[in-house]
Order: sequence, then C-alpha cells, then structure tokens
Amino acid sequence: MPEDKQSQGLENLLHEKRAFPPSPEFAAQANASADLYDTAATDRVAFWADQARELVTWKTPFTETLDWSGAPVARWFADGTLNAAYNAVDRHVAAGHGDRVAIHFEGEPGDTRTITYSDLLREVSRAANALAALGVEAGDRVVIYMPLLVESVVAMLACARIGAPHSVVFGGFSADALRSRIADADAKVVITADGGYRKGAASALKPAVDEAIAEREGQPATSVEHVLVVRRTGQDVDWAEGRDVWWHEAVEVADVEHTPVWVEAEHPLFILYTSGTTGKPKGILHTTGGYLTQAAYTHLNVFDLKPETDVYWCTADIGWVTGHTYVTYGPLLNGATQVIYEGTPDTPHKGRWWEIVEKYKVSILYTAPTAIRTCMKWGQEIPGGFDLSSLRLLGSVGEPINPEAWMWYRRVIGGDTAPVVDTWWQTETGAIMISPLPGVTAAKPGSAQTPLPGIAADVVDDEARPVPDGGGGYLVVTEPWPAMLRGIWGDLDRFKDTYWSRFRDVYFAGDGAKKDEDGDIWLLGRVDDVMNVSGHRLSTTEIESALVSHPMVAEAAVVGATDETTGQAVVAFVILRSEFAEGAVQDEVQETLRTHVSKEIGPIAKPRTILVVPELPKTRSGKIMRRLLRDVAENRAVGDATTLADSSVMTLIASGLAKPA
Ligand code: WT7
Repeated sequence: MPEDKQSQGLENLLHEKRAFPPSPEFAAQANASADLYDTAATDRVAFWADQARELVTWKTPFTETLDWSGAPVARWFADGTLNAAYNAVDRHVAAGHGDRVAIHFEGEPGDTRTITYSDLLREVSRAANALAALGVEAGDRVVIYMPLLVESVVAMLACARIGAPHSVVFGGFSADALRSRIADADAKVVITADGGYRKGAASALKPAVDEAIAEREGQPATSVEHVLVVRRTGQDVDWAEGRDVWWHEAVEVADVEHTPVWVEAEHPLFILYTSGTTGKPKGILHTTGGYLTQAAYTHLNVFDLKPETDVYWCTADIGWVTGHTYVTYGPLLNGATQVIYEGTPDTPHKGRWWEIVEKYKVSILYTAPTAIRTCMKWGQEIPGGFDLSSLRLLGSVGEPINPEAWMWYRRVIGGDTAPVVDTWWQTETGAIMISPLPGVTAAKPGSAQTPLPGIAADVVDDEARPVPDGGGGYLVVTEPWPAMLRGIWGDLDRFKDTYWSRFRDVYFAGDGAKKDEDGDIWLLGRVDDVMNVSGHRLSTTEIESALVSHPMVAEAAVVGATDETTGQAVVAFVILRSEFAEGAVQDEVQETLRTHVSKEIGPIAKPRTILVVPELPKTRSGKIMRRLLRDVAENRAVGDATTLADSSVMTLIASGLAKPA
C-alpha cells in the first residue's frame, strides 16, 4: 500500500456519507441510462463495436473489433478506414449543421471570434492544403507549439486530415523541452505563433522555436524543414527565409477544398509527451479509430452533451491530453458548440471565467480541482457577482478533488443542482475511464466511483489480487480499451516495462486507490516518482536533473508536498558544491535555481521551495528516501528512519533548516 499522509487523510473520506442522487428531471433527459452498464457487461467487445458504428463515420466499415494477439499493443477496428477531421467537421456540415457555432473564441484582451462548422471546414481544408504544400505527407510528424487559439484547433485537425500525426507541446514549456520533443518525434514542421496573451501581456513563443531548432555544436541538425507562424500578437519575430512561413500567407492562397486522407483505424493520430519516472519524457502514442470512439462516447455520456442546446467549455490547454480529447476531438466529434479561452482566470479580474460563463451561457463546464480551490480562496462573492444559472453539469479532472472543493463547486458554481462528475483518466488512457454517469449515478463528493460501461478497472494488492471492498492498493485496468495508448514513441520496451511488468497482463496506472464499502473507487495519487502539480504531471527525476545541471548544485532531491491550492507542490532539497556552499544565502540560491528550472523545463516545474541542506537521507543502497523529505517538506515529525545508511542525517537536515533562511 502506498504509505503517505494523503492516504491517511483519505481514510476519513471513505466514511463520506453524503450522496447526491440525480434529480428526476435530470435523469429523465440524460443521455446515459443504467442499461449501458448491462449492455456493456453482457458483451464488452460488442458494446464497443456498437459505439464505434454509432458515434464514428467510417469510410470502410470494420469487420474485426479487437485484436489483442499482439498484447500489450491492441488493435481496435483495424480493418476499418476513416479520417478524424472528417468526423470532427465535414460530416456535421454534410448533415446540415454547417451554421452551428463550433467555437466561440475569447482572447485574453477581450477580442472574440465565432467559428461555425462551415467556417471550420473551410479553415481546416485550407490549412491541410497549406501543410501539404510544405511537403507534409501522411505519417510525417508535425509539432504544434501554440497558445490556445482557433488556429491551434485548426492545426491539429489539418494534421489529422492529411494523416500526419501531431505532437502538441504545451506553450509553457521551455526551448530545451521543445527541442528534445521535436528531436524525439523527428518532426518535419513546427506550427507556432509569434506569441499569445497571458496575464495581460503579449508573451513570445517564436523565439523558443528558433532556439529549439538552432544548430548546436555536437548535436545532429534539426529535422524541421519549415516553421509555420500564426500572427497573434504582432510582436517582432526573427525570420529565417525559406524556412519560416506565415500561416495567413500560406493559408490565404490555399484551396478551400481538400479531400481527407482516409487512414486505417490504427494509423497514428498523435504523440503527446508526458513525464514518467525517469528524466526522459515519454511520447504517448494514440491511434485513430479506437481513440475517436472512446472520445465521442465519453464526451456524450459523461457530459450529457446535447449538441443543439448546450454550450460546453473545457478550460484545459491543448498542450495537455484533456485539451486533445475534450477540446479538439470529443466535442467536435459530437457536433458541440464550445468556448475556448486563451488567457488566465484572473485577467483582467478574478471573475473572468464567470463572466465568460455568463456571456456565452455555458451549460457544461470541465475544469481542474486546483482551479476550483483557487476560486474558493478568492471567495464566493466573485462568482456570486455573475449569472451562472446556465450551468447544468460540472466536471473535474487531473487530480483527486477533496470533498470540500467538490461541495463548493456544486453549491457555488452549480447552484446546488448541477451534477458534478469527477473523471479519472490519464494521457495514456486517452479518454475518461472512471467517472459517475450523470443522471444515473448517485454522486459521492471526492470519489471518481466506478469504471464507465465498457471499462474494466480494479484495485489490487501487491500480489495483483483484487482487494475487497474497504481495502486499498493499486489501480489497474484489466481489459484493453479502445483509446488506450499503443505504445511509447520509438520505445516498445519502455512501454512494456512501465505499464505491463508490475502486474502481469494488466495495465498498471501508477495510482494508489481504495475501494469503499460500496465498492466505489477513491484515487489517492501517484505511487511512483511522478508528482501532480495543479493537475499537471511532473517527474521528480526530471526536475532533479534540471537542478544538478546548474554548476552550483552537487546533488538534488525533489518531492511533491501536499499544497492547499495546487494539490502538490514541488519542494527541492539541494546540496551545494563546496565552492558555492560557503556564504550562500538561502533566498538567493532559491531564486537562481527556480529560474534555472524554469529555463530548463518550463515555469510549471519551478520548485515552490528550495532548501539548501548539508546531506540527503539515503538507504544503504544509495536510494534517496523521499518519504522522509516529504515529512520535512510538510512540516511533520519525521517518520521511521531506521533504514538510513547514516541515521544522523535527518537531525543534520532539521538543524540546518532551523536556522533562519
Ligand atoms: C494522472 C494523469 C487526465 C487528464 C489530466 C491529467 C491524476 C487524473 C484524476 C481524478 C484523481 C486524477 C492521476 C493520473 N488524475 N484525474 N479524477 N482523480 N487523480 O493527465 O497528466 O496524464 O495525469 O492524473 O494521478 O495518473 P495526466
């Protein structure tokens, strides 16, 4: 069992008795019904075949549903052909919904754009032609490094339209992080913008691309042939003639007609890098048919989407998997009208999100617990100043949501009536796996509850035995699912090692979990060296390597400490090289190293606290005992330290920390 404070705290939660059964009104109109569970349980594979036929349009229908003979690499609907962009756009226009709004774009400075499905078809077709003109062919990789703009969604769909897997890199990542992702994916084209608006100012992006693909001594030349640049802020940009191309110029001359490239169901749709337990990010590979099926199915049933009347808003950036499945693919596959917002929640004021909800009459909102806790901190008068009565369903994702935040979300944002769905999934799972079904499930604050119909997940002990109700252990997925990752880009062995070796034949998610007396699942956080800060995944090892790459640092250990707002916060312990240790000032060291990590990985990885220590607690075999450091970081009495090679280390650390910084 993962031993930490979080799980002890959650012990109390398992006695959570509050339950929120669906109102009869909601249940009467809900997309999902209890039958879904029965149908899926009768024949899971046939259930998915039905979903795939119903929710996705195929060029060539598939005849085979699941081929698991190459496990753990699944093949779903493998002899079918289709196109993701066709499914997200063209078919809605063909069905007469061309005038429906697909995207309400809200820029941070207040500029807006309204894009109908017909507009989207035109834009995606032109962008697909423009990419083809730059030499991008089916199978070539395209990196997208953008703020959240209409063009970002268009760029993803244009890639999908020509069968070129996209790899979106979050705009908050550094040039170095971008460089390694471009190199790993061997990308031919990068799509970026001059910059985007954040916190009230124009923030440049193009310079990071220039730096990421610049020649570096001793390193192979970049694979990138062209950089396609969207003009957003009008900032000055350096320009490489022949390499750089303005988006508006390329797209303007491109034909508005484009025939989608029909691909096999198992054709790669995208690669998305995520942090693992080692320093090197993993390129999670997703393919087309299965991914789209589960994206559409979950979006329709978990969010109860009514495409004619709902206005849906998922606050995630396209740099994360949530932005892939629940901004670009899920909603558009279902013909939804959605809002996208470029900026931060408190620009120019702390009510910006609620102003957006009021303005567009948002009815479904999907966001992260960290955002909810931040709003709680700001006070309920802020959302209270806006008309939120349009909201009828609320979703949560990214980390465990504590019952207080769940209750606040429901009461203050949802007017005490909107069902809250706490959705558990991962970059690797591609789509939601565990969640209540609105209109069906009696919701429990803080629990993601049960696997969706069609998904087989369980909590097991160290020996892979399912734990009884009331027991705790590790979350596993026991049967293949359509949107599952098909591997780690270029590294099949790592795929097998990471997910399929801990327990034989089942997928190890890396999360600790408990089952309560009703058999409902409670997620307890990661059991590996992965942290979850504001719903974003960070690797302790990756941040440690960034720290030791600074000349001042001899050794570093990073832990995720519980944080009221961000869920976890990065706390680093560093030993300075002797020539720097003398006379080092804690505050200055902290600032230098925080800036350094930000440059190496990105601002999201910046440690909240950096403590200079004389030693690190290690076992006799040299493994850092992060558990003890977490005790220190969370201001707790230090736990059992008997396995330390040198038991005085913790006293040394404590005495060092006692000195005023
Ligand atoms: C990790 C996956 C899925 C999109 C966002 C994050 C944690 C995610 C929940 C939830 C408890 C959750 C898990 C998981 N997580 N959703 N509802 N309750 N924990 O995707 O970056 O791939 O991270 O986020 O620890 O393993 P990701």
